[in-house]
Amino acid sequence: MADQAATLRELRKNSVSPDKAGSTEGYPALNAGNATRIISITSGKGGVGKTNIAANLAYMLAGMRQKTMVLDADVGLANIDVILGVNAPYNLYHVLKGEKTLAQIIIEGPGGIKILPSASGIPEMTELSRGQKLTLIDDLNEFSETIDYMLVDTGAGISSNVMYFNMAAKEIIVVTSPEPTALTDAYALIKVLYQRYAKRRFRLLVNMVKSPSEAKDVYERLSHATDHFLNLTIEYLGHVLFDEKLRDAVRRQKPMAEIYPNSPATRCLVKIAEKICSELPIDDENSPVKFFWESVIK
Ligand SMILES: Nc1ncnc2c1ncn2[C@@H]1O[C@H](COP(=O)(O)OP(=O)(O)OP(=O)(O)O)[C@@H](O)[C@H]1O
Ligand SMILES: [Mg+2]
Repeated sequence: MADQAATLRELRKNSVSPDKAGSTEGYPALNAGNATRIISITSGKGGVGKTNIAANLAYMLAGMRQKTMVLDADVGLANIDVILGVNAPYNLYHVLKGEKTLAQIIIEGPGGIKILPSASGIPEMTELSRGQKLTLIDDLNEFSETIDYMLVDTGAGISSNVMYFNMAAKEIIVVTSPEPTALTDAYALIKVLYQRYAKRRFRLLVNMVKSPSEAKDVYERLSHATDHFLNLTIEYLGHVLFDEKLRDAVRRQKPMAEIYPNSPATRCLVKIAEKICSELPIDDENSPVKFFWESVIK
């Protein structure tokens, strides 16, 4: 068990400048065929831990020598830049208005992760001409294709702003806490994404649990409901224990995985990052990146 910290340290070595070619020892070289994995991290209820999970998973994936970017698609207060203690003064809106280039708004976070602040995003985009949109889509594609993982930190709920991103992402991680209201909201979110947006694959991450069995119990309850009422089977991705160290890391504006590499929640997230990293990406002829940005910026 001690050895999660050592593993993490080991994984972090050589990660300063993750090099795609031949550097993913032990993990598939995901980007060899342009297969950027786009994973949205979403929830029905707010405050269940999406931003912290996205930040720490990104940090860990970068430690596994995967080029990782977080798209901050949330408009809340505790944005990823605040959690990670970096300053993101500009966002896509400034690119849309022609005040900044894409390269000027993307910032570098701890461990070499990139952060793309989207801010309030979508509505403004409807004012753009088709030509402006195509240029923006091209720029976003070009940049995103150099990335192995793009984690999309969405807002909570079923507003259209959240749905755009979930609809466009190929993989969806639904985060819930064991609270009954979080669970019913997770169900409502899955139902809308399935029935209205034809999404079929959902993976559940249960956060802030006291034990692995509590998380399994939450999964059983939710999957029973989706099986029974929607005829849809959801997958279990894993759990993250409730951990004061995570709150402390937020206060200190550092990734928990960096300053508490051996804390209970870090250990849970290492397992999840390894699970994600060891999978083969979903086979798809379409470029996920192109599909993603074209869907988001219609
Ligand atoms: N495993 C955990 N143990 C203890 N506290 C946690 C854990 N996960 C998250 N928290 C705490 O819960 C709060 C909400 O976390 P976070 O901001 O990541 O949630 P969110 O889902 O992104 O919220 P929002 O919906 O507002 O964007 C934070 O104060 C964070 O420190
Ligand atoms: Mg958040």
